[in-house]
Amino acid sequence: MTVEATPPATSSTEPKFYYPPQALVENSNIMAYAREKGFDNVDDLYVWTIEHAEQFWSEMATRYLDWFQPWDQVLDASEAPFYKWFTGGKTNIVHNAVDRHANGANRDKVAIIFESEQGETTNYTYAELAREVNRFANVLKAQGVQQGDRVTIYLSRVPQLLFAMLAVTKIGAMHSVVYGGFSTDALHSRIMDAQSKVLITGDGGWMNNKIVELKKITDEAVERSEGVVETVIVFKRTDHDVPMKAGRDLWWHELEAQPGMDEPCATEQMDAEDPLFMLYTSGTTGSPKGLVHTCGGYQVQVAATLSFVFDIKPDDIYWCAADPGWITGHSYIVYGPLILGATEVIYEGAPSYPSPARWWSIVEKYKVSILYTAPTAIRGLMRYGEEHPTKHDLSSLRLLGSVGEPINPEAWRWYHRVIGHGNCPIMDTWWQTETGAFMITPNPTTPLKPGSGTKPFLGIECDVLNEEGLPASESDDGLLVIKKPWPSMLRTIYGDPKRYVQQYWTRLPGFYTAGDAARKDADGYYWVIGRIDDVIKVSGYRLGTAEVESALVSHPAVAEAAAIGLPHEVKGNAIHTYVILRQGYEGSDALADELRKHVGKELGPIARPETVSFVPGLPKTRSGKIMRRVLKARALGLPEGDLSTLEA
Ligand code: PRX
Repeated sequence: MTVEATPPATSSTEPKFYYPPQALVENSNIMAYAREKGFDNVDDLYVWTIEHAEQFWSEMATRYLDWFQPWDQVLDASEAPFYKWFTGGKTNIVHNAVDRHANGANRDKVAIIFESEQGETTNYTYAELAREVNRFANVLKAQGVQQGDRVTIYLSRVPQLLFAMLAVTKIGAMHSVVYGGFSTDALHSRIMDAQSKVLITGDGGWMNNKIVELKKITDEAVERSEGVVETVIVFKRTDHDVPMKAGRDLWWHELEAQPGMDEPCATEQMDAEDPLFMLYTSGTTGSPKGLVHTCGGYQVQVAATLSFVFDIKPDDIYWCAADPGWITGHSYIVYGPLILGATEVIYEGAPSYPSPARWWSIVEKYKVSILYTAPTAIRGLMRYGEEHPTKHDLSSLRLLGSVGEPINPEAWRWYHRVIGHGNCPIMDTWWQTETGAFMITPNPTTPLKPGSGTKPFLGIECDVLNEEGLPASESDDGLLVIKKPWPSMLRTIYGDPKRYVQQYWTRLPGFYTAGDAARKDADGYYWVIGRIDDVIKVSGYRLGTAEVESALVSHPAVAEAAAIGLPHEVKGNAIHTYVILRQGYEGSDALADELRKHVGKELGPIARPETVSFVPGLPKTRSGKIMRRVLKARALGLPEGDLSTLEA
């Protein structure tokens, strides 16, 4: 297999394992469960969960959740790979995340601590959260939103993003959240695929002390969407002037002020297999795919993983610094922490505003005990030097987390030593939009190796296989596969079940192929190396080469384009593009810059290419497929491999 990198060799001065503090191990949620099951370590517990997977997951379902009606069957595999979990069960994630806390002992406990970029703090208790969700659910109903409808949400990182998502699921509709850093084309294609009649946005959002023009982008995307969107609900965040289209655009606060909006709004009783939400992600081909998650299994695995991996205790202050618009935010900002009745921090703005000490000041101010972020953020903040974190008291931290891409050992060690004062284990969680929740991850009892996600979570069976479907040897990279279904798995691709089967279940029949290359070492530890398809991870964000290429081709000067990812010190990967111009156009620095900006405007700043090179031709297979691996090998000065299928 051709892959981008290999796991680092451990130097002789480096300890083989980083061991967690004994007190943490002893008091961890996962050890408590192991002891309940009669084990004195998690490895033995793991073996039991694999042998009794259905029993394990049903225990998780009752341990962490209330159900309106119990399920008849834990796993129904009769239509594999369209697996069903907890069939016959009735539930609603909002009952578990909001209602039961607001009506119980957590009523006055703070659920959300919101810090705006300007530095103001707003707290919401569980009772206040319930009021906000209830009121906005009434607004949605008054706008005609019904069970099964898709509602697109395009907001900045404000609590209203959570209120909107929870209000949608409370009434049994599906949300499709589009990350606020995406732009017109990305929003437009997601609206069209979901056919959302209602869209929720803001008059803007704050980032780096500048206004992100959410409403302007929304207007452009909606105008291109040929009447699909009938209603746009606008949350006033920045108070700058935005045009409101009569008959279509409505202010959030005005709708909430209508009579009756404070009346109780019922939480719908959903079937476990009813759709909960869809979330678009990039894949190997053209348009992004809307991955569908369902009401029952998703919440079971999200709650169990968060409790056992991040070890949430009643007095923890948890901060996942991701954006709710990605799966990390869906599972581990919106639903997981609230199901567990936790207190969590949400910070609106940029990590380095007004200084690179901003995050560390937040940790100190709110006494954050668990911090979960991405390698790219760690590498970015690391570059500013140690003086910023060392100015702040970070002693409240007890656990750290990483997600989204492989973390290089240098960044891991810095995070461990400087942020975690050498005493906070790092939970390097491997998972995907598709998996819904952690799949390969340490827990607080795991001896760690920097850069490895360690081993599969309880009840999860993975492997690394070669192209023949046989286990790869320890010295070989192979395909990362999941061997058995899991509760929070995606159920389908919205509107395209064939693509679901073809994409995930055909390469090695019977197994789910994740699209990642990995290696398993002699200790059974997994090392995820990177994508093997045309997905580029830029700063941990997932982008498709096809999306970038189609944005380039939408410019009048471009006849054809190819995009590849090349290693980047902070972003992990950066996008590099190759463009064939139409007749009459000449390549120049000015045009390259214009094209970079064009992609940024169409897709969003994260997709802006690092370079645009003008080329007379592109390497292609005889069937006309661009060979990106050849471009990549050339750019890196590596052997180009087998070129026998290349166009003459
Ligand atoms: O390549 C893997 C990488 O991110 C991909 C999934 O991206 P996405 O669906 O956007 O979800 C990201 C957040 C869960 C994976 O196929 N990835 C994710 N976590 C890790 C990782 N690679 C290495 N180590 C990780 N911890």
